[in-house]
Amino acid sequence: MKWNRRTAFKGLAAWLGGSSLLGAQQAPKGSAKVYLPPAPGDDPLLDPANVMDFAPLAKAKLDPLAWDYLEGGSEDEISLRDNRDGFNRIIIRPRALTGIQNIDLSLDLFGQKLAYPILLDPAGGKNCMYPDGEVTVARAAANAKALHITNGGIQKVTEGGKGPVWFQITTGGELRSTATMKSLVKRLEDQGCAGICFTTDIMYVSHRERNIHNKFDRSWGEIGIPRDAQGRLPKPRNPERSGVYPERAFPTPTWNSVKELRSLTKLPILLKGILTAEDGARSVECGASGVIVSNHGARQLDHVGGTIEALPEVVQAVNGRIPVLIDGGIRRGTDIIKALSLGAKAVCVARPYLYGLAAFGQPGVERVLELLRTELALDMGLAGVGNLASIDRSLVRIRGEQR
Ligand SMILES: Cc1cc2nc3c(=O)[nH]c(=O)nc-3n(C[C@H](O)[C@H](O)[C@H](O)COP(=O)(O)O)c2cc1C
Repeated sequence: MKWNRRTAFKGLAAWLGGSSLLGAQQAPKGSAKVYLPPAPGDDPLLDPANVMDFAPLAKAKLDPLAWDYLEGGSEDEISLRDNRDGFNRIIIRPRALTGIQNIDLSLDLFGQKLAYPILLDPAGGKNCMYPDGEVTVARAAANAKALHITNGGIQKVTEGGKGPVWFQITTGGELRSTATMKSLVKRLEDQGCAGICFTTDIMYVSHRERNIHNKFDRSWGEIGIPRDAQGRLPKPRNPERSGVYPERAFPTPTWNSVKELRSLTKLPILLKGILTAEDGARSVECGASGVIVSNHGARQLDHVGGTIEALPEVVQAVNGRIPVLIDGGIRRGTDIIKALSLGAKAVCVARPYLYGLAAFGQPGVERVLELLRTELALDMGLAGVGNLASIDRSLVRIRGEQR
């Protein structure tokens, strides 16, 4: 890892100024408890043992409304639980005595050499978690040599990050006509974008009920939103609501939109939000370069199941013609092994790096990636596999499955 611990700690201390985390180090009035400042040389960044340990640190830093926006899912949050539960139904079948010495995590993806199979998913609204969050994440991803899919200010991000950056399009506005598609493609190509990620599952605004209860205002994700010393957001002007009939200014994109986009650019196109064999096969037919099996972190349609449950049917339908990636609930090296065993080429994460961002800024994002990467390598060593090519279906069993 590249950052200097002293700088990281100084940066953290500055960012924590007036926050509840630092506040906890000082003796609150009337409290008998002794709170000690961190000893010189202590590095709070190194305290979390795994990526989930960053979650309470992030929660303590954030306005509760921003925390709920980060953490929550849609409606009953059934898919949110399924994303994690799905992984727990899979058992690793370790290989004994395989003589592994070096563990190699590298791979080729869409013509790019990646150091490890963990990508940073697009996540809107980072600025309500950390000032200038998008560029901060881009810088962290570049330092950590990870592929970052951005959804904000591509030029600023490519300049700030200097790593392989993909741009994500969502609501379909850019795909509504040949002219809008052409201008999007030109802008992205001119600005040094390495690939396009088209999110297919966000054509309508879902009910994220934590946000509705909190009167969350999506404009809080924009740059320059003022916060008070405790990190609290301003009064909402346009709070999220239920009971509003869904409306769109133009129709949702179609498979023809994907074909047309394909004809306009040589950039790789990744379709994000694919959950079925039918759509996996159509993605190949329409010229997609890859798909991400994703339920948008359980933030769009609820009751679609965990993504790891959908992965096998998509992998089977795609049949090795394009890479299949997956996201949703990936928190451990073992989760990544399970996903790769079931046919994913790589995984993407969002909440884990957002926890790191909210808790520590850029060094937090880098540390989260380092923990995931090293945990993957360790778990591969323990499972007796030395490289990604050695991971196959025989490395896992689904609970209850007959062999
Ligand atoms: C705060 C937040 C904002 C997100 N914004 C977007 C977005 O703008 N576009 C998109 O395609 N996905 C978005 N996602 C979904 C992620 O890209 C990803 O599919 C999902 O969160 C992965 O699951 P995980 O958070 O459990 O790792 C967002 C997720 C979170 C948590």
